[in-house]
Amino acid sequence: MNLQRMPLVLIPIPPDFINSLRSARRVAVLTGAGVSAESGVPTFREAQTGLWAQFEPTDLATPQAFERDPQTVWEWYAWRRELVARAEPNPGHLALAALETSLNRRGAHFTLITQNVDGLHQRAGSQNVVELHGNLSQTKCSREDRVVESWPPTRRVPPPCPHCGALLRPDVVWFGEALPREALAAAERAANESDIFISVGTSGVVEPAASLPFAALEHGAIVVEINPEATPLTPLAAHVLTGPSGAVLPDLVKAVWPEG
Ligand code: APR
Repeated sequence: MNLQRMPLVLIPIPPDFINSLRSARRVAVLTGAGVSAESGVPTFREAQTGLWAQFEPTDLATPQAFERDPQTVWEWYAWRRELVARAEPNPGHLALAALETSLNRRGAHFTLITQNVDGLHQRAGSQNVVELHGNLSQTKCSREDRVVESWPPTRRVPPPCPHCGALLRPDVVWFGEALPREALAAAERAANESDIFISVGTSGVVEPAASLPFAALEHGAIVVEINPEATPLTPLAAHVLTGPSGAVLPDLVKAVWPEG
């Protein structure tokens, strides 16, 4: 789906959603790869363009793949790191940072839970970001599981850990691996305590992140979805804003706080 050629369609924002956001005390947002699509960062499951349409996840994003062929895995993540480094936050990222600022200024609590490892939310100015799947710009020791900031120049790929000599690896969560405990606990708390939960640009098929909107629903939150496509959450969401987040989110912030 080529979003660049899509005519700019202003998505009507439901008035009761606008009012509930204005009076909200605790807002949580969950984002997925779709929020970075308009920055030129491929999503995972988009047919043809998605990473998993081009590459086999079991060859690149599992501990077994790294065991089998660490060089290929390291180089693939280096390629993604370069791709993300060339990308810029888009109006969707910027609108989420503005939403946080506006809510905080009115004494409300805001949490941005992301499955993305691209760091574009932080580059857009978002503060309270919970990274569920790690961050591409970080590297860790595959044995000691601790972040390694720097290592001496070497021809070895991946480079060895300067502390213990084991291989270094990207600090991201691979299939079959547990999520960082603190991040998951913070995300579950934010979902359970939210009065509004907004799910943006995620297909909602990867657990445990996919369960967060349903937990928020069970705890009585108003759950909203922003996605050009339907997902398992769509039938249960109180409001569904069908469109690209780079267009919908700025419209939403403008509609809620026209005066900024
Ligand atoms: N705006 C909003 N949503 C969009 C846009 C856009 N411009 N473009 C695509 N989308 C939607 C798609 O319709 C789809 O529902 O974004 C979603 C992307 O889904 P996935 O590619 O499955 O990405 P995500 O949900 O983030 O994947 C979850 O799976 O592969 C693992 O660890 C990886 O964090 C990732 C996790």
